[in-house]
Amino acid sequence: MPAASTERFSLEVLPVPADDFAASVRAGLTAPRKVLEPRFFYDALGSALFDAICELPEYYVTRAETEVLTIHAAEIAAALGGPLRIVELGSGTARKTRILLDAILARQRTLDYAPLDVDAGMLEKVGNALLGEYEGIRVMALRGDFRDPARAIATLPPTHDRTVILFLGSSIGNLDPSEAAAMLRNLRSAMRKGDALFLGVDLRKSKSVLEPAYDDALGVTASFNLNLLQRINRELGGHFDLARFAHRALYDETLGRIEMHLVSRGAQTVRIADYEVKFADGETIHTESSWKYDDASLAALAAEAGLTVERKWVDGREWFADVLLTASA
Ligand code: SAH
Ligand code: AVI
Repeated sequence: MPAASTERFSLEVLPVPADDFAASVRAGLTAPRKVLEPRFFYDALGSALFDAICELPEYYVTRAETEVLTIHAAEIAAALGGPLRIVELGSGTARKTRILLDAILARQRTLDYAPLDVDAGMLEKVGNALLGEYEGIRVMALRGDFRDPARAIATLPPTHDRTVILFLGSSIGNLDPSEAAAMLRNLRSAMRKGDALFLGVDLRKSKSVLEPAYDDALGVTASFNLNLLQRINRELGGHFDLARFAHRALYDETLGRIEMHLVSRGAQTVRIADYEVKFADGETIHTESSWKYDDASLAALAAEAGLTVERKWVDGREWFADVLLTASA
C-alpha cells in the first residue's frame, strides 16, 4: 500500500531495515579504514546543501549536463522513442529532468514518471510541484535505494510502454566500479526488450578543474561533508565536535576518482550512543568517491552488465556525457 496516494501522485516506501543508518555508521567507523556511506548525506539539510553545490561556480557538473540536455533535448527524446514511461534513479530536485519531460511531453500526451530517491521529503515536494507544472503527468514516487533498481521497478504497474531509466548527474560515479557494475546488472535484469538506460557520466579532466569542484572557496562542499557528522550527532546520539574535523577532496589521476574525506584535527575519542571511536591525529573518514569515466572505462562497465552504449551526447568542453544504453544482443 503506498504511504501517500492521490489520483495522480503516490509515494511508496520500499522496506529498508529500521537500524540501517546506525548499523552502517557503526560498521564504517569501527573498520580499520574508517568510511561512511554517501547515501546518508541526503537528509533535508544535506539535500539543500547539494542544491547549493549545483549553483557553485566551481561545480561545473550540473551546468555541463544542463547544457547537454538543453541543446539536444529533441534529439534525445526522439532517440528514447515511445510511448514511454520514466523511472528516475536519485531524482533529487529533478531540475534537469524537466528539460527531458518537456521534450517527451511534446511527443506524447501523458507520461508516468517514477522518481526514486532516499529523501522522502524531497520526493513529496518535487512530485507535487510536477503535478502543477505538467497536466499530463502521473507521479509514482519511490523511496528506496538506487543500488536495487529491479526492486523499485517491480513495484510499478505492468505496462506495454517502454521503460526508460534515467540516472543523471553522474550519481553512478558515487559507486565504486564493482558496485556500479552490480547495480547495472540488477537493472539489466529488470529491463525488457525496448527498454533503455539514459545515464549521465562525468568525464576525466584536469585535477585543476576537479579539485576545486569538490573543495569550493565558499566551503559549501565542506559543509555538505561535515553535515554527515551533524546527522550522526542528531539522529544517533553522536558527540562529534565539527570544528575538530576538516574537509579534504583529492583527485587520484590513476584511478580517475575524487575522494572526499573528513580529517581528524588532532587525536580524539568520539562517543556515539553506547560506543567510542578513537581517531589518531590526521586520520580520515572516507565519505565519498566520485569516479570519472572515459569512453573505454564506460564501455567496459556497460559490457560487464550486458549493456551497450548506443548514443552519446557531450557538452562543448567534453566535460560531461549523457549516454543511451540498451541491452546487448
Ligand atoms: N539527479 C539529480 C540529483 C543528484 S544528487 C542531479 O542530477 O542533480 C544525488 C541524489 O541521489 C540525491 O537526491 C540523493 O538523495 C539520492 N541518493 C543518493 N544515494 C542514494 C541511494 N543509494 N539510493 C537512492 N537515492 C540516493
Ligand atoms: C551526487 N553526486 C553525483 C555528486 C558528485 O559530484 O559526486 C555529489 C557531490 N559530492 C560533492 N559534491 C557533489
